[in-house]
Amino acid sequence: MKQPVVVSTVSDLRKAVSAWKRKGFSVAMVPTMGALHDGHVSLVEKALEAADRCVVSIFVNPKQFAPTEDLDKYPRQLERDLNTLGKAGAHLAYTPGGADMYPDGFDASIHIGGPSQGLETDFRPQFFAGVATVVAKLFLQATPDYAIFGEKDYQQLCVVKKLCRDLDIPVEIVGAPTVRDAFGLAMSSRNAYLSTAELVVARKLNLIMRETGAELADGANPEIALQQAKDSVVGAGFDKVDYIAAREAGTLGHWRPGLPGRILAAAWLGRTRLIDNMDIPQA
Ligand code: PAJ
Repeated sequence: MKQPVVVSTVSDLRKAVSAWKRKGFSVAMVPTMGALHDGHVSLVEKALEAADRCVVSIFVNPKQFAPTEDLDKYPRQLERDLNTLGKAGAHLAYTPGGADMYPDGFDASIHIGGPSQGLETDFRPQFFAGVATVVAKLFLQATPDYAIFGEKDYQQLCVVKKLCRDLDIPVEIVGAPTVRDAFGLAMSSRNAYLSTAELVVARKLNLIMRETGAELADGANPEIALQQAKDSVVGAGFDKVDYIAAREAGTLGHWRPGLPGRILAAAWLGRTRLIDNMDIPQA
């Protein structure tokens, strides 16, 4: 099975990327936490459209998990991931260890305001500082020209764009559409936690969100429509809704009809937390 070249230290990564740059190749990076699925593969494909060479990082970043979250049970399957990346045509896999990324005494943390406020932050207050810090490190280590992020994690995409803008990091952030299964469920490494019965329920979330998006586009009262959406999600069998919200698509600030909008949701099925988002159609 074809696999990409694997490097695990910053210095080997830098050597590989410098060699490409000396040859005049442009470089695109796809940061991941592994357990790769078709959503990740679509990012590699987009990276290869944007640039001559593609580096995929695989690092389960402890700084974005709270102590109560699933860091220990997060799926790890490196061999399988390397085969997936080989098939997708990625050139390099960067698989740093925890101590390489965060050596003893590591103290930095990047706080991004703006789009990181609310939504995920209301429920995972540590999350975006963890993401911004690791993404900034990955960018400084790999110095890519482009980096591809999925719209699946829409708030994260907005935060990473803001990180580069505010800190003058010269990486062009490219968003890629959410890859879904045949029932519209957004692909996620965490879907592996779902039982067969839970999977049936999980597939209803996107339908309810799409319906709510259409209602909002038709001029429904946002407060009422979003409350009904929450009730429908619980009625469909979810255990708890963290949020279902409509936000302005660029800043994630307040949305009102007429502005480009995004509907974003997070909900629990048993011990699994699913997130999804989609466009509010323009009336
Ligand atoms: P991870 O969850 O592995 O996701 C890596 C990238 O794949 C992210 O940009 C995410 O949005 C994208 N992705 C996941 N599911 C997708 C789908 N169904 N369709 C399209 N893209 C999808 O997101 C992270 O890792 C981490 O927070 C990371 C950015 C690597 C920082 O640690």
